[in-house]
Amino acid sequence: MTGAAGGEDRRPRVAVLISGRGSNMAALLEAAADPSYPARIALVLSNRAGAAGLARAEAAGIPVAVVESRGHKGDRAGFEAAMQAVLEAHRIGMIALAGFMRVLTEDFTRRWEGRMLNIHPSLLPAFPGLDTHARALAAGVRLHGCTVHLVSAGVDEGPILAQAAVPVLPGDDEAALAARVLEQEHRLYPAALAWMARWLGGYGEGRLPAMARIAAGATAMLAPATGALANPLPSLAALPTEKA
Ligand code: GRF
Repeated sequence: MTGAAGGEDRRPRVAVLISGRGSNMAALLEAAADPSYPARIALVLSNRAGAAGLARAEAAGIPVAVVESRGHKGDRAGFEAAMQAVLEAHRIGMIALAGFMRVLTEDFTRRWEGRMLNIHPSLLPAFPGLDTHARALAAGVRLHGCTVHLVSAGVDEGPILAQAAVPVLPGDDEAALAARVLEQEHRLYPAALAWMARWLGGYGEGRLPAMARIAAGATAMLAPATGALANPLPSLAALPTEKA
């Protein structure tokens, strides 16, 4: 394969793993459509044949594959072996989980250690798992957001690469808050993947440093680029003096 300049394209080949809608996948595809983006989306893989994101990927001309997790009920190792075969067939070097709703085994996460990212709709380590927006509202947090992290064996526990925060506003319901976070997800994930791809470029197929070192690099280099986006407090003078 050749790059834009006609030379060998050495950018990492990324597989985006989805289970459903695929809006983060679409944001990654859009960013990666720019030939100067430092990663290539070489595959979209879904564990559900009916995932809406598959049609979007196909329309964008990206190779797609389905490895049905349903066909491997109770056999996570078999499901992952089937996925691994597809990833190898497409010469994948990095994985971006984007709404992929299967918990991965320690074997699989170890195999992809330092080369697999996930986006999670909360400011981890708060609210790992499901229903993050409802739980954030119930907890009364004033800031919520999203996190891109390296994937480790513990669900939503891997080292954090980048976060974006949004305010929780009076009157928010789950849908309003989810939409505000999702807008930031679509900004954050392409930026974090780009950083990671550039960073990995220096290592090729070789052994990577520990995940904690990768994350420390991301903190130093990515945070200024993405911004913390926290809702800044107004000056004290602008605060209402009346009791609400
Ligand atoms: C996103 O909120 C993502 O953070 C979470 O699952 C959702 C997937 O949405 N992991 P989409 O399929 O990318 O639209």
